[in-house]
Amino acid sequence: MNHALLALPTTAPERSVRTIRVALAGCGAVGGQFLALLRAQSASIAAARGIRAEITRVLVRSTDLPRAVPLPPHILTADVESFLRSPADVVVEAIGGIDPALRIAHAAIATGRGFITANKALVAEHGAALEQLAARHAAGLRFEAAVAGGVPVIRVLRDAIAHDEVRSIAGILNGTTNYILTRMETGASFAAALADAQANGFAEADPSRDLDGRDSADKIRILAWLAFGTSPSTLLPERRGLLPAPDALTSAAAAAGGAVRLIAETTRLDGGVSAVVEPVLVSGSSEFARTAAQDNLILVDSAWTGRLALAGAGAGGRPTASSLLADLLDATPRPPRRDAASTPLRGVADPRAFRWLIATTAPPPQARDFSAGERIGMEDVLPHAFDRRTHVLTEPCTRARVDALLRRIHHAGFAADWLRCELKQ
Ligand code: HSE
Repeated sequence: MNHALLALPTTAPERSVRTIRVALAGCGAVGGQFLALLRAQSASIAAARGIRAEITRVLVRSTDLPRAVPLPPHILTADVESFLRSPADVVVEAIGGIDPALRIAHAAIATGRGFITANKALVAEHGAALEQLAARHAAGLRFEAAVAGGVPVIRVLRDAIAHDEVRSIAGILNGTTNYILTRMETGASFAAALADAQANGFAEADPSRDLDGRDSADKIRILAWLAFGTSPSTLLPERRGLLPAPDALTSAAAAAGGAVRLIAETTRLDGGVSAVVEPVLVSGSSEFARTAAQDNLILVDSAWTGRLALAGAGAGGRPTASSLLADLLDATPRPPRRDAASTPLRGVADPRAFRWLIATTAPPPQARDFSAGERIGMEDVLPHAFDRRTHVLTEPCTRARVDALLRRIHHAGFAADWLRCELKQ
């Protein structure tokens, strides 16, 4: 077996570094984490992409609040007009809502700057018009962070399967309601679960947008736009949210052996495109039921690729910040490929230890001797053999060590199959 992980370079290759000036609107759960991520990754971004992102201005609600990432006071402003005049190559928007986000988008795009946003309401209402404006001004418009937090569904629709014919998209697109529903399944009250979702930075500033399905509706409109070309401002999904009685809903679902999930769907039909957001009673063993906490799950069905499932953290500052940063880096030209000589990546052995299930033609005493010879303890010799072979479960050990054991068995003239074991002990 030749299993290897990629080692990270220990020294950054020499390259010239270009400064990109970034003005950031919003320094809350998402904006604050975007700053933290930029700071944490600045050296690797400079080394890998030849870019240094310099934050030139941050628009905040109040300049007096304490901040997780300290910023020089002269960078902060609570004045939108002053923010619009910021020296910047790219504007990143994480304030949400339409005003002043739309003004900021217009000002950035009309002056040929990049505009990167996490704002689904803005993209759902004005995305198509902003895209036309961006085309006229050769400005970049990107919004990976607007749908499903850290899950790169926009890239999948725009790039990976852009050539395909999407038939339908169905997903859990709101982390807050999913968090509430799954917390209630383990006994939390609706009010407590909502309060926790807010404290964790999952919920919208106005959480009724999460609860009544408007947030999910905005996201499915954006996905339908990318998949089917339907103008998002004209597609109005049928919508029912969790209110008014989520406690009753979840209890009834549990009694029926299922679970409630808030599901957004869009489907291409003969006469157009349908879109619906509604709570659905799903089977307890379904992928939707297994999507827990603030995670999102998006199922895309297309004519050629077939079914794609994308899952991950759909809400929260860190994953959403990661999508913003990916867009920021994509909005700037890629440096030429590094040549192999300047890329000190080498393969190293997988250092992780696992338990291994080994099925061998060696009888149990010999199997024990082989393991003892490699100093690998046997956790178990399975009492009910499934065939005539001896089945043993090793103690946790690395691939290299189990390889040595398998070689020893083979050299002694016995056959052996093996499986990495991830069963709980
Ligand atoms: N409030 C949103 C959610 C944030 O809970 O999914 C991410 O868009």
